[in-house]
Amino acid sequence: MPVPMLDLVAQNVVVKQKVLDGLSALTDRCTFVLGENVAGLETDMVSYSASKFAVGMSSGTDALLVALMALDVGHGDEVILPSFTFFATGGVVTRLGAVPVFVDIDPVTFNATPQAIEAAITTRTKAIMPVHLFGQLADMPKIMRIADSKGIPVIEDACQSLGAKGWGKNAGQFGQLTGCSFYPTKNLGAFGDAGITLIRDEEALAQKARRLRAHGMEPVYVHHEVGINGRLDEFQALVLRAKLPFLEGWHKGRRKNAAWYIQRMQALSQDDLQLPVEVVPDGRHIYNQFTVRVKRGRRNELQAHLKARGIGSAIFYPISLHQQPCFEYLGYKKGCLPETERASEEVLSLPVYPEMTEAMLEEVAKSVMEFFE
Ligand SMILES: Cc1ncc(COP(=O)(O)O)c(C=O)c1O
Repeated sequence: MPVPMLDLVAQNVVVKQKVLDGLSALTDRCTFVLGENVAGLETDMVSYSASKFAVGMSSGTDALLVALMALDVGHGDEVILPSFTFFATGGVVTRLGAVPVFVDIDPVTFNATPQAIEAAITTRTKAIMPVHLFGQLADMPKIMRIADSKGIPVIEDACQSLGAKGWGKNAGQFGQLTGCSFYPTKNLGAFGDAGITLIRDEEALAQKARRLRAHGMEPVYVHHEVGINGRLDEFQALVLRAKLPFLEGWHKGRRKNAAWYIQRMQALSQDDLQLPVEVVPDGRHIYNQFTVRVKRGRRNELQAHLKARGIGSAIFYPISLHQQPCFEYLGYKKGCLPETERASEEVLSLPVYPEMTEAMLEEVAKSVMEFFE
């Protein structure tokens, strides 16, 4: 039985009619950008995340970019972030003329460690950007303690982790600002690009983010800052609002599938394969990805084995940011972030989407176990 890495058709069935009705109304209304659905989504996201303000954006990348701009990050400033992340986390820093300072990760969670972050702080550090990778929170209480003690603001990259919880809080309730993505592969995905910037509590930051989204304009044709066009489409917002009532169920489905895999594959030796571990107290990993580590240099071989059986998998991420050609000028040498580099060689993400049946999970688990026999 083939098992794709992700099947959005199965998910979209439940919202199709609502989306089509919404599109029909939108076609008549013709408010295509920043209308009532965007405003509604922002209100929904304030309730969902329990952060105080939410500003809809055209993508997760723009949500992070605007967060940095709202903090006046600019030329020569340093921003600390993990190297083991999607490119956008580092790209937005460089776009502003600032310097990304890459730090190493915890080998179990794949998230930047508070110790590495603390060691990277200099007088030029303007912001810290931890990433909640794959759906599990970074160690935010420790990171916030370090950042607060130095007066450095924190931007959470929750592009993979809207709905993740820990230490009695949600993703988006720790840092001053948070960027979330609604790219179609996320637990809550649009029918195209979309994102949102969450603002923990400061109204002035929310107003600035709102302005920056539309070229720094307020009121019309008066520009206070040079912003961007980060506006969110009404159509994407209506899709997201149609999907939102299902999101908690989808998180639950992913968690159930992850628990099933962990139980089924626990007999495998740690020397062959390491399963994900949930380490956050009082936490909720939302498993945007179910990422294992394949040991003994056999990751690509396992991926080929699965592919031959029609099973999808993905490598997030084969090249970490400090090893990207475009960041060569920063001078990071091979071996300088050892856990990051090891993770790039070992990680493999397996299908975990909530619509998977037990037979599909079994097909994946059986094929993985067979490989190590
Ligand atoms: C960790 C991380 N940061 C940033 C982004 C950028 O989000 P988007 O693709 O919506 O621009 C993503 C999305 O893939 C991501 O996974």
